[in-house]
Amino acid sequence: MSDVLTYAIILAAGRGERMLANKNKMLLEIGGNSLLELCLNRFQENKCIDHIFAVVAPEDIFPDKQSDIKLKDDLSEKYPKLASLVAGGKTRQDSVFNGLDAIKKHAAVFSGRVLVLIHDGARCFVPSAVLESVTDTLKTERCAVVAAMPVTDTIRQISNCRLEDLQVPREHLWQMQTPQAADLDILLHAFAHADHEGFPATDDIALLLRIGYPVRVVRGDRRNIKLTTPDDFEMARLLYEAEYFNE
Ligand code: CTP
Ligand code: MG
Repeated sequence: MSDVLTYAIILAAGRGERMLANKNKMLLEIGGNSLLELCLNRFQENKCIDHIFAVVAPEDIFPDKQSDIKLKDDLSEKYPKLASLVAGGKTRQDSVFNGLDAIKKHAAVFSGRVLVLIHDGARCFVPSAVLESVTDTLKTERCAVVAAMPVTDTIRQISNCRLEDLQVPREHLWQMQTPQAADLDILLHAFAHADHEGFPATDDIALLLRIGYPVRVVRGDRRNIKLTTPDDFEMARLLYEAEYFNE
């Protein structure tokens, strides 16, 4: 038996307000699959991942009470690594915490290292090479790991619609993507600390930096876009048809 278990938390419990759809964007479909399913596919197919926890809003997945069990069974059948559907929270941070808590219970009897990759379900086309480099780096180095991309545009600071005479050196600026990953015990510690301090953050790495834990960056991928607005969705649909996301 391996002495390392690798879990993935796929976050899908947001409201998708900026997508302006009349439902959670994770239920929108491209090529006949919901964004949630497209994302589950990527993790199911990847040999680095042992178990998947999908964090969902119960009202999205089970809108019709009678279909509860069937839908859950359908997903588990299609994605054998899907260990459980976990109910999300009010904020992204709450949703991640619920996922971590569920993994803690699932891995309780395991005595080896438990690694967790936290991933925005809205980045449903994450390439396998990104999942592999995040996992490999996490396994070999005692640090947290985040996928990120260097900024390519010139960045300037603006105040009250006026440009300030400040050009931020681009070589030091990277855009954060997900997966963001670390050992389960480190993540639990960082989230408990943030909760205690009432510290909110838009990503998980911020909470790790806050406890002074070292974070390594690995190169993400342009295809690992987060579908946020209707434009993103339309572009992703066209790129999908052009087989841009095929591996
Ligand atoms: N997410 C979540 N639980 C929340 C909020 C967000 O699981 N309470 C998930 C989303 O489903 C998404 C990911 O976190 O996959 C990144 O968040 P974002 O792109 O901001 O999605 P939404 O919060 O759904 O969108 P919006 O902010 O436009 O409402
Ligand atoms: Mg959001």
